[in-house]
Amino acid sequence: MAIIFHERSGIFHLTNDHVSYLIRIMENGQLENLYYGKKIRDREDFSHLHDETARPHLCVSLPDPSMLSMQYTRQEYPVYGTGDYRTPALTIRQENGSRISVFTYESHTIQRGKPALEGLPATYTESDDEAETLEIRLFDKVSSTALILSYTLFEDLPVIARHARICQEGDAPVLIERAMSCSVEFLGSDFEMVQLSGAWARERYVRVRPLEIGLQGVQGLAGTCGGAEENPFLALKRPHTTEHQGEVYGFSLVYSGNFLAQTEVSPFDMTRVLMGISPESFAWKLEKGETFTTPEAVMVWSDRGLNGMSQVYHRLYRRRLARGYWRDRERPILLNNWEGTYFDFNEEKLLQMARKAKEVGVELFVLDDGWFGERNDDFRGLGDWFCNTDKIPSGIGGLSRKINEIGLKFGLWVELEMINMDSDLYRAHPDFVLRTPDRYASHSRHQHVLDFTRQEVVDHIHDMIAKILRESEISYIKWDMNRYMTEPFSAHLGADRQGEVMHRYMLGVYSLYERLTSEFPQVLFESCASGGARFDPGMLYYAPQAWCSDDTDANERCKIQYGTSMVYPLSMIGSHVSAVPNHQLSRTTPLETRGAVAMFGTFGYELDLDTLSPGEMETVKNQIIRMKKLRRLIQTDSDFYRLLSPFEGNETGWICVSGDKSRAAALLCQRLNKVNASWLRFKLAGLEENTSYRVTFEVGGITRSFTAFGDELMYAGIPVEREDLLRQGGDFAALFYELEADQGVSMIRGF
Ligand code: DGJ
Repeated sequence: MAIIFHERSGIFHLTNDHVSYLIRIMENGQLENLYYGKKIRDREDFSHLHDETARPHLCVSLPDPSMLSMQYTRQEYPVYGTGDYRTPALTIRQENGSRISVFTYESHTIQRGKPALEGLPATYTESDDEAETLEIRLFDKVSSTALILSYTLFEDLPVIARHARICQEGDAPVLIERAMSCSVEFLGSDFEMVQLSGAWARERYVRVRPLEIGLQGVQGLAGTCGGAEENPFLALKRPHTTEHQGEVYGFSLVYSGNFLAQTEVSPFDMTRVLMGISPESFAWKLEKGETFTTPEAVMVWSDRGLNGMSQVYHRLYRRRLARGYWRDRERPILLNNWEGTYFDFNEEKLLQMARKAKEVGVELFVLDDGWFGERNDDFRGLGDWFCNTDKIPSGIGGLSRKINEIGLKFGLWVELEMINMDSDLYRAHPDFVLRTPDRYASHSRHQHVLDFTRQEVVDHIHDMIAKILRESEISYIKWDMNRYMTEPFSAHLGADRQGEVMHRYMLGVYSLYERLTSEFPQVLFESCASGGARFDPGMLYYAPQAWCSDDTDANERCKIQYGTSMVYPLSMIGSHVSAVPNHQLSRTTPLETRGAVAMFGTFGYELDLDTLSPGEMETVKNQIIRMKKLRRLIQTDSDFYRLLSPFEGNETGWICVSGDKSRAAALLCQRLNKVNASWLRFKLAGLEENTSYRVTFEVGGITRSFTAFGDELMYAGIPVEREDLLRQGGDFAALFYELEADQGVSMIRGF
């Protein structure tokens, strides 16, 4: 791995065994993007890759005879107004109202390792050998503003992590109106754009569209990243790229607030990708001596298809984004009471649920919404983080100890960023609400958002929840967030700083997460937002798992988990077995299928076990035994391959293959049963061709097994008998395959 600077040609070459990224200091001092893609060998000069064609109407941005025009230049970090009419990466408004700026190269540093981003979540290294970081300092003389572009190249992975910092060095303040985390330009537009879009209960569906001249992108303006609707991710893939082969560029933003991910194709067939905080409603005033840091964008290149890209994100996010005690640990199998009781519970009911959970092998009991203040429905109580002792006479401390005595860990639900107007907190501090004066404050689920831009609000909430954590035996926190933001305005910020509210809010949330995760390092945090409406890398830096969706129907979950796996590893995907008929859809799916789908995630149950028959309890016990055996493989030690897409056909298929390729777990799940149907072959991936595997699976409660070499399993596939799917329930039936190498194979892999 190396970041090389060729002084004579003014070219930076970021290169490892996988990728090359070339930046050139142009004659006018600005930076250009010369190449990004598969590794190419280094040479002293690549300036011939600069494309300079004389065209009519071009604006020459240099006071010399060169024909350099910004409109046709692949700029590294473009600004608007000096001849480039495409969307810029940076706009700063100066005191006289001008938005023109010209940032030219001043200096650079190359260092081993990766510095942290202050106050923001980001990928990290554990030793300096894992990455190298280039920082290029540019300067705009007129406004006296410095711009630092930061690039970290990871040693073993085709990953470049980027962010920008803007520092005001002159006396007069500037207003940052737009500051992207990254900008990349490609020659050509032979791409399709992949995005993860959806809505509540159908989050992160995979959508693919060809690029066209003009703008296309995704944006989140709800204050919770893209909410359920959009994810801070886009990929550009070649039209022929599949899950298994072909070139793809992934862009993922480590951020949980408003974002923009956009492509722009010019009529000259150049494609610009921008990713960062959405400029809509954003403006940041920068005084002398202050620095603004953008969130981090993580760029992944792969020529091994979408699976190749996903596996890189999984490896990086599992080991160098997630942190702390739980990062490498198997996740506890939990029972959450929400769909079992909703608000209707008391202490005895909870203890009964916990005893039943213990019987089947559950490890963690989670008490969801409804334990605090006057919270007997969703009209009241948010903000009152003290136990409702009418419902739970022993208090949270007492209940947690009783649950521990049963032999289970105890977990608790909170929604710390929210307030109901019917709450003691609101009665004491009505000013804590984020709302615009003289305007109606829209509510959603009868609740309002707290002004987390204010330190005293964050402190107040911190003190309440830290007290409960200190006084109780709590091993897990589910941090929910059940509404989008409206009328954002902070009464404690001046008129010139209202554009900062949405980002400052996120900084407040991150700071509370940082405090709580440092003070209670062994507590497992799971983030949540009306299901999966805040499933982003920013959250996953603090909470290593996230509730994926309120839709727990196994068939719907195939789509949601398939799409989520595009970027996020299975250890981060919260997945539970729930009751039938399903509470969201009224659909009935086999218990075997519900268990099998949920096992490809963190795994747990969300129902009242008392409602199950003895036979179903037996099935649950067996599922838990299987998950305990497989969870290390599934959650911490495997590569995940998507095999059959629920967005394209009747079947969903996927497989986890251990790092040494000696073990695997695969799922085949069908939507509707078919009569007199054609053949079905389930082709696996990721196995060792020359290794013989014992394949074990269950049909109608009977275990079967056979052996086959990896090549046969991958290229000829497993012949699936339609009768077997019928025995597994017909509609929505699943087959779960476990693979074990007959003799061990030895493969060694980095992190
Ligand atoms: C929304 C979450 O997604 C659910 O799992 C549950 O915790 C409810 N909130 C509780 O209000």
